[in-house]
Amino acid sequence: MANLLSLCLALAVVTALLVSFHVGKLTISQEIFFPQIGKFPSLATSSSPLTCSCNSSSSSSSSSSSSLDEWLHPKEVWHSMTDEELMWRASMVPRVEEYPHNWTTRVAFMFLTRGRLPLGPIWEWFFKGHEGFYSIYVHASPEFKEEAVESSVFFKRRIPSKVSFSLSLLSEASFLEELLQLALVTLWSIDYITFLGSFDDPRPMGRGRYNKRMWPLVALSDWRKGSQWFAIDRKIAIEIISDLKYYPVFRDHCRPPCYMDEHYPPTLVTKLLPELNSNRTVTWVDWSRGGSHPASFRWWDITEGFFNRMRFGSNCTYNGNVSSICFLFAR
Ligand SMILES: *[C@@H]1O[C@H](CO)[C@@H](O)[C@H](O)[C@H]1NC(C)=O
Ligand SMILES: *[C@@H]1O[C@H](CO)[C@@H](O)[C@H](O)[C@H]1NC(C)=O
Ligand SMILES: *[C@@H]1O[C@H](CO)[C@@H](O)[C@H](O)[C@H]1NC(C)=O
Ligand SMILES: *[C@@H]1O[C@H](CO)[C@@H](O)[C@H](O)[C@H]1NC(C)=O
Ligand SMILES: *[C@@H]1O[C@H](CO)[C@@H](O)[C@H](O)[C@H]1NC(C)=O
Repeated sequence: MANLLSLCLALAVVTALLVSFHVGKLTISQEIFFPQIGKFPSLATSSSPLTCSCNSSSSSSSSSSSSLDEWLHPKEVWHSMTDEELMWRASMVPRVEEYPHNWTTRVAFMFLTRGRLPLGPIWEWFFKGHEGFYSIYVHASPEFKEEAVESSVFFKRRIPSKVSFSLSLLSEASFLEELLQLALVTLWSIDYITFLGSFDDPRPMGRGRYNKRMWPLVALSDWRKGSQWFAIDRKIAIEIISDLKYYPVFRDHCRPPCYMDEHYPPTLVTKLLPELNSNRTVTWVDWSRGGSHPASFRWWDITEGFFNRMRFGSNCTYNGNVSSICFLFAR
C-alpha cells in the first residue's frame, strides 16, 4: 500500500511538473466544437429529430432561452443520446469559421476512468487559474455514479458511458490501469498537428495483431500501433467520430490480443489523414524495461536528473522546427 501510494505521488508530481513547465505551449488559435453535447440551440425544438431522445432536464425545458454560449459551453454534459445519435450530433461542424463573437480558444480534455479520477487533486491543480480555456469530459464506467463536489472542475462533467472498460476500451488489466488516465486533448492548431502515436511494429504485438479478414478495407501496410494517450485536433476528431467505414472492420475483427484503443486511432488516421499526424504522443513513458507495460517509478527514482531526462532527453520537430519540448505529460 505504501508503495502504491508513493508511486501515485511520484507520478502525480511528474505529471504536475511537466504540465506546469509546458502549459504555456498550449496555445491554440480557434475554439473547438468537439464534443459539444447538451443543450441545442433554439432552432432545435421538440419536433426536430435532434431532441427525440434527448429529453433530459437540461435540453427540454429552456431551449427557447438558451443562448449560443450556453449551447457551446454547456454547464452539464449529461445526455440521453445513444452512441449513434451522439456521434451523428458531434459530427456536425460549423461551416462559418469566424465566430460572431470574441471568444477564447479551449482545449477539450477527455478522461477515461473506471471510477473516481486517479490523481484528481493534481488535475484540479492543473486546471486552476485556467478557467474558460478548457472543457472537461469524464467518461467513467457505467457503474460509477458518484458526482464530484460542486467546487471541483469535474463537477457535472461526467458523460454517459455504455460500456464497461474492463473488456472494451482499456486493454490490459493490471493495477497499473487504475492509475491510467486517458486524456484526449482536442487542439485546433494552425497546421492541424496531431499528436497520436503511430508506428508500424513488426513484432507479434504489432503486425501480429492484424487480422487478414480486415482486408481489403484495412491492409497490413495500413496497420499501425500507438498509445492510448493522444492529442488530436478538431479536424481529425471529426474524422474519427464520423467514421462508419473502418470502425465496423475493427469492431468485428480486432479482438484480443488485438486492442482497439492501441490500433484503431493510429490506423484510421494513417488511412485518412496521414500527413496531419506527428506520429508521436505527448505522454512520456519508459518502455526500456520491456514487457507490455511501461516502467513504473518509485520515490527513489524521482531525481532532478530523471526530470531532466524526461524534459530534455529527446528532440522532436514541432511545426518543422526542432524542439526539446516533446511531451506534455509523463506516466
Ligand atoms: C423522455 O421523457 C419521457 C417522460 O419524462 C420518458 O418517459 C422517456 O423515456 C424519455 N425518453 C428518452 C428516450 O429518454
Ligand atoms: C473583439 O475584440 C476586438 C479586439 O480586442 C475588439 O476591438 C472588439 O470590439 C471586440 N468585439 C466584441 C464584440 O467584443
Ligand atoms: C507520419 O506518418 C505518415 C505515414 O504513416 C506520414 O505520411 C507523415 O508524414 C508522418 N508524419 C511526420 C511528421 O513525419
Ligand atoms: C537535441 O538537439 C540539441 C541541439 O541540436 C543537441 O545539443 C542535443 O544533444 C540533442 N539532444 C538529444 C537528446 O539528441
Ligand atoms: C520555427 O522557426 C522559424 C525560424 O526560426 C520561426 O520563424 C518560426 O516561428 C518557428 N516556428 C515555430 C512554430 O516555433
